[in-house]
Amino acid sequence: PVEKRVDDLLGRMTLAEKAGQMTQAERGAVAGDPAMITRLGLGSVLSGGGSTPAANTPEGWADMVDGFQSRALGTRLKIPLLYGVDSVHGHNNLVGATVFPHNIGLGAARDPGLVRRAAEITAAETRATGPQWTFAPCVCVTRDVRWGRTYESFGEDPALVTRMTTAVEGYQGRRPSRDLDDPERVLATVKHYAGDGDTRFGSSTTGTYTIDQGVTVTDRRSFWKTNLVPYVRAIKKYDVGSIMPSFSSVDWTEDGVGDPVKMHAHKELLTDVLKKGMDFEGFLISDWEAIHQIPGDFPTQVRTAVNAGVDMFMEPYSAPRFVATLIAEVEAGRVPMSRIDDAVGRILTAKFELGLFERPYTDRSNASEIGSREHRAVAREAVAKSQVLLKNDDRALPLDRRDALYVAGTNADDIGNQAGGWTVTWQGESGDIIPGTTILEGIERYAGDVTYSADASAPMDGADVGVVVVGETPYAEGVGDVGNGHTLNLSAADRANVEKVCAAIETCVVLDVAGRPQIVTDLLPKMDAFVMSWLPGSEGAGVADVLFGRRPFTGRLPVSWPRTEAQEPINIGDRGYDPLFPYGHGLRTRTR
Ligand code: IFM
Repeated sequence: PVEKRVDDLLGRMTLAEKAGQMTQAERGAVAGDPAMITRLGLGSVLSGGGSTPAANTPEGWADMVDGFQSRALGTRLKIPLLYGVDSVHGHNNLVGATVFPHNIGLGAARDPGLVRRAAEITAAETRATGPQWTFAPCVCVTRDVRWGRTYESFGEDPALVTRMTTAVEGYQGRRPSRDLDDPERVLATVKHYAGDGDTRFGSSTTGTYTIDQGVTVTDRRSFWKTNLVPYVRAIKKYDVGSIMPSFSSVDWTEDGVGDPVKMHAHKELLTDVLKKGMDFEGFLISDWEAIHQIPGDFPTQVRTAVNAGVDMFMEPYSAPRFVATLIAEVEAGRVPMSRIDDAVGRILTAKFELGLFERPYTDRSNASEIGSREHRAVAREAVAKSQVLLKNDDRALPLDRRDALYVAGTNADDIGNQAGGWTVTWQGESGDIIPGTTILEGIERYAGDVTYSADASAPMDGADVGVVVVGETPYAEGVGDVGNGHTLNLSAADRANVEKVCAAIETCVVLDVAGRPQIVTDLLPKMDAFVMSWLPGSEGAGVADVLFGRRPFTGRLPVSWPRTEAQEPINIGDRGYDPLFPYGHGLRTRTR
């Protein structure tokens, strides 16, 4: 039994070994000083977004992870390492993996079984290359689409997000045993606990609030109803193995004090509510250097977070300092040994359950499945189901294969833009960064007569239908916040393309390839059909499948669509709710 093995091991560990287990360093730092693994008895290594081995191939990954692992096995107690990655829409750091639509699209598809299947594939492709742990799924409830992480959310409705926690089961396997020692499963992380998508934006009496890593200003009851519900399901039903606290803070309005408390320091929410109240038995992994944002000096930050309930610390570049500080705090009696034992016990439990003590090295037998036809077919289905038809006058859609098509817009033929952030690199990149199918390539498989002109400069005469693909270019996290160089408005080039094509061609279809709604209020009357494509990932063919009626449009908006940027935050249930398209809107079509 795991419990006995954990107790036995804990009983033989020194304080320094325990502190090492509570520490996670970044791949780059470890690659530069691999002896750190043995010196500190490191518990975990992570690849932050885009932190890949030099050879970004399945073998390159497995060689790297196994190389680190062999060092960990050289420590006195031979405790294996846990390797974590952000496989948030597929094993998205690896070139050649199957890349699924970002969560916002899966929220539109409203198919919990499909979400489970996508997570299963992601788990299998990830673990076949070494990592046994993903920092996913994000169960954030996005309440303001100006947030740069909106696309990582399944939507604005807590009930919808809760239904999509089937992802946890897909990653980890079924209860009661889960199947964590299965070479096709990984430990899941629900994040970012909690309120990450519900922060207040703009100025307040106490200062200016940013959205990402901001402040959730609310009362306990509303906080629970909006932000905690998905966690209850992830824990009670799916026994999620780890949870990542949020960079954000919470400010209870009911106490009238106006004192935001960082989630990483929030003992009430981490220990009383999550571990005791919800019986969470997994471990809490801090976010990237998040404890550095807790007020006070470093020893205070470490002590406060450990005592609040954080179990493992993502200290990418300061692992040695963290370990030394933690040891000193325990020795000074400021962190109780019982807290350390609780934290380490939780971490070791996961390692035992993952079978790492018996099989510490990568089982590469499933590597041939990475990016397979079967996996891509599931992603393509997810793409088709995620498409939301917002307007369809005179049944402009589905298209007829015999029509002469004129396709415009850079997002029509850019797989990097269509995949968004968290793809190969942290921020994502435009261009040909992963194998797959662009939307244009998908369209060309159906129609014989297609003219593509990104800037709509080629002549349009003879075209029956214009398809203009507008949208965003990749970003991740707060970099994508509106107010941080981003806006919900369409670019000037996108607007010009819509104006030009819709004025010249009889039937005009506009697709939006973006992580969140964009402002199209004045342009909408010019369009015959308008489709929200979200960030579909590597299988653009799924978009073409619904455009040509091979599959019906069934997707529905997982967020309210604002008329203007100033209307944000706008959510279903608001007083005076008057969006351009309401939450849940989505027209259906028949197949052809
Ligand atoms: O998992 C992520 C998190 O969502 C944001 N900060 C960095 C972590 C690890 O890359």
